[in-house]
Amino acid sequence: MPFDGGSPVAVLAADRISKSFGSVPVLFSVGFDILPGEVHALIGENGAGKSTLMKILGGFHQPTSGRIFMDGKEVVLPPNGQAEDLGIVLLHQEFNLAEQMTVEENMFLGREKSSNGFLRRKEMREEVRGHLAEVGLNVSPTARVSDLSVAQKQMLEITRAVSRQARVLIMDEPTAVLTTAETELFFRQVRRLRDNGVAVVFVSHKLGEVKEIADRITVLRDGQWIATRPARDLTLDAMAQLMVGRELSDLYPPIAEADVDAPKILEVRNLTTPRVRDVSFDLRRGEVLGFSGLVGSGRTDVFEAICGLQQVEGGQIRFDGQPVNFRSVAKARDAGIAYLTKDRKGKGLLLEQGMLPNVTLLALPRFVRNFMLDRKAEEEALKRGIRRFDIRARDPNVRVGDMSGGNQQKLLLAKIMEINPKVVIVDEPTRGIDVGTKQQIYHFIAALAAEGMSVVVISSEMPEIIGICHRVFVMREGRIAGSLTGDDINENEIVRYAAGLKEAV
Ligand SMILES: Nc1ncnc2c1ncn2[C@@H]1O[C@H](COP(=O)(O)OP(=O)(O)O)[C@@H](O)[C@H]1O
Ligand SMILES: [Mg+2]
Repeated sequence: MPFDGGSPVAVLAADRISKSFGSVPVLFSVGFDILPGEVHALIGENGAGKSTLMKILGGFHQPTSGRIFMDGKEVVLPPNGQAEDLGIVLLHQEFNLAEQMTVEENMFLGREKSSNGFLRRKEMREEVRGHLAEVGLNVSPTARVSDLSVAQKQMLEITRAVSRQARVLIMDEPTAVLTTAETELFFRQVRRLRDNGVAVVFVSHKLGEVKEIADRITVLRDGQWIATRPARDLTLDAMAQLMVGRELSDLYPPIAEADVDAPKILEVRNLTTPRVRDVSFDLRRGEVLGFSGLVGSGRTDVFEAICGLQQVEGGQIRFDGQPVNFRSVAKARDAGIAYLTKDRKGKGLLLEQGMLPNVTLLALPRFVRNFMLDRKAEEEALKRGIRRFDIRARDPNVRVGDMSGGNQQKLLLAKIMEINPKVVIVDEPTRGIDVGTKQQIYHFIAALAAEGMSVVVISSEMPEIIGICHRVFVMREGRIAGSLTGDDINENEIVRYAAGLKEAV
C-alpha cells in the first residue's frame, strides 16, 4: 500500500479500493491520491483497471470496499456525474457528448442559464465562443456534434471540462485521438490548469506524453497497485516494464522478405476523389504495405474510396485481376477486402452486445442451418477468435462496450477473419492500445501476411510503420509524395516526404 488515507493535502484520495463486477474482481485494494497543482499520470496495460478506478473517483461506480477521502475527510461520492458539483470532473474514455445536439448545447448541458424561464442564449453563446477560442477549437457554437471530427469531439470534451472550473480534473486517455499539434495545444491547457492549482489526473498509454506532462506516475497492473513515483525517477523503459511486469523485447515481429514476384491482388491507377489525386500503387500477395503522412494528407481517403465509402471521380481499381468499383463496404467485404476503421467505437462493433454476435456478424449466412442460427458453430467461431487473437475477457458475456480498446481491436480482427479476406486494411490499428497488446497486434499482422493475406497499415505512428511494413507510401496533400523500401524506410525519409522537403522523381 502506498499510503493510508492519502497525503494530508490530497484533494482526492482512494484508500484500499477494491471493485468487483458481479463475481469478477477487477481492482484489488488500490491506493491513489491527487494533490492540488500536480499532474498525476495513471498508466497500465489495457484491462489493468484504470478506467474503473477513475469511474470510482468520479462517483460513477461504487467501490466494493475501501474508502474515498476528499480534503482529508471520508466521503461517499454522489452517482451519475453529480460529483461535478463537488468539483470533480471526469472526462470519460468513451465520448460522452450528445451527438444530435449542438456544440453550445453540449457545453451547457444541465447548466443552462435562464432568467424568467427564458434561456439566455446570447450570453451562453458568447461564453462558449470564449472557451472555444481559449482552447483553440475552431468550430461554430451552433455546429452539430455529430458533424465534428473525432479530434474535434475530444477537444470539445476538454473545453467543456475547462469551462466547469474543476478542482479535480480526471482525463481518461484524452489524447488517444489527438494529433501531435492538437496534443500540444491540449497540454498547454493542462499546464495552465495545474498552475492554477487544479489536481489533474492523466490516464494514458502514451508513455512519451506521460513523461512530458506528469509530475507523478502511478502504475496499475492486473487490478493491483504497482508503484507511485515522481515522474523524473522513471524512464520510458522503466514505465513499460512496471506496466507489463516483464522485459519488452521484440516489439516488432521479424519481417520476412517480400516476394516481389507474388501476384498483385490490388492494382490502383490514378485514383482521384474529392480529396486525393492520381494515386497509383500495387499491393502484392503476402505484403504489408504502409501508408504514412500527416493527418489529413489523404491516407484514409484512398482506402475509403476503394471500399465504397467515398466517391471515386477517376482512375481504375483492379482487385484479383478484375476491374472493380465497390459501392459499399459490404460489397468490398463480400469480395474479400476487410476494412478496419480507426473509429473502433463508432463503426466496427455492436457495443451493447456480447462478443458472440460481434464475431459472427459479417458471416451470418455461414452460421445458419435449417433457417436457424447454429449457436454451436457461432460459439466455435468465437473460441477460434479468442484463441487466435488472445482476447482477454474475464467474463465471457461482457458487453463489448465495456471491453478495453486492445481487446476490442482483437475482436475486430477475429470478426473479419470469419469472412476469409484476401486484403485487410487497418487504419490506426494500435491507437489507444497499450504496449503489450500493441506488440501482439504487430505479430498478428505479420502472421496474416505470412499466411498469404495482404495487409495495408495506415498509421500516424512512424515506429510501427517502420517496424512492420515491407513497403511504405508517404502521402502529402492528397497525393503520393514518395515510396520507400528496405533500409530507406526510416523516420527521416518519411518526414521529408510528408513535409514536402522531398519529392518523388
Ligand atoms: N461494467 C463492467 N462490467 C464488467 N466488467 C467490466 C466493466 N467495466 C470494466 N470491466 C472489466 O474490468 C477490467 C478493467 O477494465 P478497465 O478499468 O476498463 O481497464 P483499463 O481502463 O485499464 O483498460 C477489464 O477486465 C474489463 O473487462
Ligand atoms: Mg480504460
